[in-house]
Amino acid sequence: MSDRPGLDDADLEALLGPGAHGYFAGGAGDELTLRDNLDAWRRIALTPRVLVDVSERDLGTTLLGRRRPHPIVVAPMAYQKHAHASGELGTAAAAAATESLYVLSSQTTTSPSAVAEALGPSDRWFQLYVFTDRSVSHDLVAEARESGYEALVITVDFPVAGWRERDKRTGFRVEHPIALNPSGPPLTIEQLFAMHDASLTWDDLAEFAEAAGMPVVLKGVLRADDAERAVEAGAAGIIVSNHGGRQLDTTLAGIDALPPIVDAVAGRADLLVDGGVTRGWDVAKALALGADAVLVGRHVLWGLARGGAAGAEEVLQQLLAELDSTLALLGCPRAADLDASYVGPRRAGEASSWP
Ligand code: LAC
Repeated sequence: MSDRPGLDDADLEALLGPGAHGYFAGGAGDELTLRDNLDAWRRIALTPRVLVDVSERDLGTTLLGRRRPHPIVVAPMAYQKHAHASGELGTAAAAAATESLYVLSSQTTTSPSAVAEALGPSDRWFQLYVFTDRSVSHDLVAEARESGYEALVITVDFPVAGWRERDKRTGFRVEHPIALNPSGPPLTIEQLFAMHDASLTWDDLAEFAEAAGMPVVLKGVLRADDAERAVEAGAAGIIVSNHGGRQLDTTLAGIDALPPIVDAVAGRADLLVDGGVTRGWDVAKALALGADAVLVGRHVLWGLARGGAAGAEEVLQQLLAELDSTLALLGCPRAADLDASYVGPRRAGEASSWP
């Protein structure tokens, strides 16, 4: 077992088997973006301020107009019963225990209503894929609305699946019932992802926003002009993301794509960023560069795989403790006060355009 409980390691392949492990751990193509998602945080230096009273710290942020105790969000992740028998109920319990906003994937192996029950009063958003059979997507949105999900996260970087060679090699099949395949035989990832609607455009968003009757957040934006268009289309939030390096290899890391998007959006929508967050100081860097919150995916999933709900909770607790310690050591006791003065320049000798 890794002494960094959130990180991928050889024990995970033994736990999950090559198919599920390859699916969760893998990225697109040569997995350059997958790796760069981790490296991008490490290229950014922190610049602490000294002799500041940091005896009281406040990790709070505001998302969609609501105060939140901290900026860590559990990312939507598909087929979680393939990571641990407790599946989405495990990660939901961990989110509730740590007051983390929870985003449920529409490729969930547990119904949105059952996950809502596990979350209790804890905040939740619902992630939507638009499938070629749009009635499946609409039924999911209706269930989410009735189960108290507060925002609809429409993923827009998945017209087709990324080029994922691990899945091609293993032929991984999803064996648990899901909305796309409620009682049918196990389907390969390729069969499932062929059901995503590759014809989706900006014109289709209104159809789902209206049906949802809740704020819409677009997930998977990497360009400032798309961010601008998202704001014009009425998005309340934007998730700057390369989908965990799983879609198009050699795209920018989310944190590297963020600065021009911050400028373009100019406070008109909330900004979240994801990809490779494994440390509390990564979270501080995201906030310093203009994000309101970060999503954490695999890091939580590996906690779930190793230890169920308790394992996922341990990962989240450690991230929060690291963020708290980072605020103290940065001389910035309120997370909401982090700004670009706390980051960069990059470490000497690293060629870069940052910041
Ligand atoms: C994936 C989708 C389902 O990345 O989000 O596999």
